[in-house]
Amino acid sequence: MIASARVGVVVPAAGSGERMGGVRKPFLELEGEPVLIHALRPFLADVRVTSVIVALGVADAADPPAWLTGADPRIHVVQGGRTRAESVRNAVAALPEVDVIAVHDAARPLVTPEVVDHCIEIAAAGEGAVAGCPAVDTVKQVDGEGRIVATPDRSRLWYAHTPQVFPAAMARRAYAADLAGATDDASLVERVGGVVRMVDAGASNLKVTRVEDVAVAEALLRARRGRAK
Ligand code: CTP
Ligand code: MG
Repeated sequence: MIASARVGVVVPAAGSGERMGGVRKPFLELEGEPVLIHALRPFLADVRVTSVIVALGVADAADPPAWLTGADPRIHVVQGGRTRAESVRNAVAALPEVDVIAVHDAARPLVTPEVVDHCIEIAAAGEGAVAGCPAVDTVKQVDGEGRIVATPDRSRLWYAHTPQVFPAAMARRAYAADLAGATDDASLVERVGGVVRMVDAGASNLKVTRVEDVAVAEALLRARRGRAK
């Protein structure tokens, strides 16, 4: 256990938001603030975080918004890649020496300080940690024609969210390997033999993916603010 782990945070924010009709989701305002600022807040509030690398699209990386670069001196911007995994790889390469690497999607504005803290604690103790929640729907595996070939036991299935947090050496080893077919960070860590456990973040840690998610995310943010008053 590292008493005061230095945490590097990597935030992929270079996507094109195709499922929202080409909206740059990290720049979209929810309750008066960009999604990216909401997503960064619990990390910036954590004193263990020494560096935050945000991967932006080519044009935005060349001319990043002042609301981002001015938000905190620990924030730096790099250019993203063609895929999420390439964007994460670019950002990991820009991190200074740290003990723990946390990857968090810019499109997840509802992550809580409790979940961030729990994941960092696990990674500082030597295992990987992935925020997520148990599957609520039965999941079907299908063939190319949509015919069901298997129904995995739902009690063992979880949805994987972010943050995904790892001991730094584990994450660097994972991102040095072939990225093909990786849809999350843990899958790369699993390939290099890292032990990773799930942390229940509840269903509210949603990713803004489609237009209808905006109203849900805003309602959840408002409800939280109401409770904090
Ligand atoms: N992302 C990235 N670089 C890419 C693709 C995605 O940094 N080449 C980031 C997105 O900005 C987002 C996160 O990865 O914060 C999760 O991706 P997703 O929700 O799929 O966002 P988009 O790729 O932008 O959306 P879509 O797949 O609908 O185009
Ligand atoms: Mg995508």
